[in-house]
Amino acid sequence: MVDFKLETLADAVLRERLLHAAFGQGRFRKTAEKLRRGFMPAEGLAFTTLDEAGHLIGTLRFWNITAGTAGDALLLGPIAIAEHRRNEGLGAMMMRRGLAQAQWLGHKAVILVGDEPYYRRFGFCTQAVARLTLPGPVERARFLGLELEPGALHGAEGLVTACGRKLTTAARAASA
Ligand SMILES: CC(C)(COP(=O)(O)OP(=O)(O)OC[C@H]1O[C@@H](n2cnc3c(N)ncnc32)[C@H](O)[C@@H]1OP(=O)(O)O)[C@@H](O)C(=O)NCCC(=O)NCCS
Repeated sequence: MVDFKLETLADAVLRERLLHAAFGQGRFRKTAEKLRRGFMPAEGLAFTTLDEAGHLIGTLRFWNITAGTAGDALLLGPIAIAEHRRNEGLGAMMMRRGLAQAQWLGHKAVILVGDEPYYRRFGFCTQAVARLTLPGPVERARFLGLELEPGALHGAEGLVTACGRKLTTAARAASA
């Protein structure tokens, strides 16, 4: 039985190792990174999955953003599952539980930049964010949105900006 839980500061080093293996250094050059750098994940929305032996095999975090005229929303990502545990449904489990928790906490919409063929199974689509822009280049086919509350992204337009809690020195040191 794997364990899906809230991330702690102690998970940071292994989480970064997993992200490095999944995405490499290139992840720091992504446009979405501009909405994350210097900020803490959204309260109660940073998750890890541990395997049966207690090793970290999955990470998923959400970030507070302002989605143009739609107002407060979340940015999802990155999500990664350790290579040796992919295709077991763990990514889907993390997505579903993370999104359910975000909805339970009262968040109304989620955006992300990623592979539409993967994320559409969770309800993400390009149309929801068609008139929003990100603070950097993005392939429109990979810029996706999901309403957790019906109509939350209706007519949304303008720039997506970061609006989260600033990263503390302790958190910065833990993931360095
Ligand atoms: C994407 C990722 C999180 C999925 O986790 P997972 O636990 O392997 O996924 P699941 O077991 O829940 O789902 C597997 C299904 O997703 C599909 N899938 C996985 N990655 C995909 C992708 N990038 N695009 C389309 N489909 C994808 C698999 O082909 C499989 O399809 P099937 O159900 O039809 O057989 C994992 O593959 C991963 O960490 N990849 C590297 C990091 C990454 O690319 N993150 C997402 C950025 S877009």
